[in-house]
Amino acid sequence: MSQSTVREIVSNNAVLHLPDGQSIELPVITGSENEKAVDISKLRAQTGHITLDPGYGNTGSCQSGITFLNGEKGILRYRGIPIEQLAAKASFVEVCYLLIYGKLPNQQELTAFEDNLNHHALLHEDMKTFFSTFSGQAHPMAILSAMVASLSGYYSEAADGVGGFDMNAARLISKIRTLAAFSYKKSIGQPFIYPDDSLSYCGNFMRMMFAVPARDYEPDPVVEEALNLLLILHADHEQNCSTATVRTVASSHASLYASIAAGILALWGPLHGGANQKVIEMLETIRKDGGDVSKFVKMAKDKNSSFRLMGFGHRVYKNFDPRATVIKGACDKVLSKMGIEDPILDLAKQLEAAALEDDYFVERKLYPNVDFYSGIIYRAIGIPVNMFTVMFALGRLPGWIGQWKELMDDPTHRITRPRQVYTGNTEVNYVPLADRK
Ligand code: ACO
Repeated sequence: MSQSTVREIVSNNAVLHLPDGQSIELPVITGSENEKAVDISKLRAQTGHITLDPGYGNTGSCQSGITFLNGEKGILRYRGIPIEQLAAKASFVEVCYLLIYGKLPNQQELTAFEDNLNHHALLHEDMKTFFSTFSGQAHPMAILSAMVASLSGYYSEAADGVGGFDMNAARLISKIRTLAAFSYKKSIGQPFIYPDDSLSYCGNFMRMMFAVPARDYEPDPVVEEALNLLLILHADHEQNCSTATVRTVASSHASLYASIAAGILALWGPLHGGANQKVIEMLETIRKDGGDVSKFVKMAKDKNSSFRLMGFGHRVYKNFDPRATVIKGACDKVLSKMGIEDPILDLAKQLEAAALEDDYFVERKLYPNVDFYSGIIYRAIGIPVNMFTVMFALGRLPGWIGQWKELMDDPTHRITRPRQVYTGNTEVNYVPLADRK
């Protein structure tokens, strides 16, 4: 059942007693899945106190009707539809529409949306020169974020208003593929391959990545299907680090392009989307070291070592990550359909089994997350390791756009501006340079 985004349902109030004798009644908001939140928005004005929650593990920053996840039960739903159903039945383009517009498109809406994506697949020709200005060592995520921000120089920021949103959303979803593929072509010294409207979203991307002018190219349906699945699984994940960044930037009324460019940069970090690259690098290190997974499990537990099992653990999932379950199943299927035997897959399974039997990981409820197996599929379909996080960004884009729209459509939203507990010096005097020690 569809739900409006902002819930007014107020159940029993909570009462907070403060050490200075004040007490305050705080409204309790109940979400559509019965999650409870204590609304502290009047706390400082009424008591002079703020709350402190580093990393925001207990802080709801918004009310949202896009994605529901329950980390204890391993549930993930986009607009109410379980991820397992979408993974088995939907196309990525349908999921983009669902996340942005709140419902699955009917045939007419889907055709119009697909036409729009085809129409916007090309880059402005002048933008091609940008690719030559990056150094050969530039990480594809640096190029992608710069190019997405640059789109605002070609497509009016003013058009980000109500009338222009649909077009800019379609531009981004379509052009991000072209940007990603062109940056890869540039890095290997091959000519850019232009989009082909006759192909599916994923087939078109694979062609721009792997076709060369000298030969015909037919996208492999197994690869198209695998890519479609991975993009769907990455498409949204409520208020994670990069999505919260997109909302934060958008809250200052920055453009869609600026907000998404910021989200891409937040995703890049190895504790977030950058983990998929780090997982494969870790598995390669284990393989080259002789393949003893127990040695690396031991190292991950050692508090004197900074090593962590990449692709393990999650702020919200404390049982299993339903995306990882789907991807693990797909890994075996894709590799066997493609006739690929990857020793890294066996190693990943051994590492998972060793960690899941270990008290350290059991006690802390650390399970494989979405990034643990996704890199193995990306590798099998020919995506270079340094582009894995770019693939994640392609998938996450419709979620970011949907969240940007939801924030902008909410007339009550305010600029994001957290408080702090100051722990620095109390007032001290300025010391002239000559008098300083
Ligand atoms: N390996 C070893 N120990 C770990 C790991 C890990 N991968 N993850 C968490 N822990 C330990 C921590 O050391 C800590 O132990 P302690 O209680 O003894 O101090 C405990 O588990 C809790 O970990 P936190 O870092 O407090 O958990 P948090 O929710 O802040 O971090 C995160 C979650 C960043 C995902 C973390 O689990 C991690 O670094 N994982 C590896 C990187 C990764 O795979 N990131 C991708 C996440 S999915 C995504 O963003 C798409």
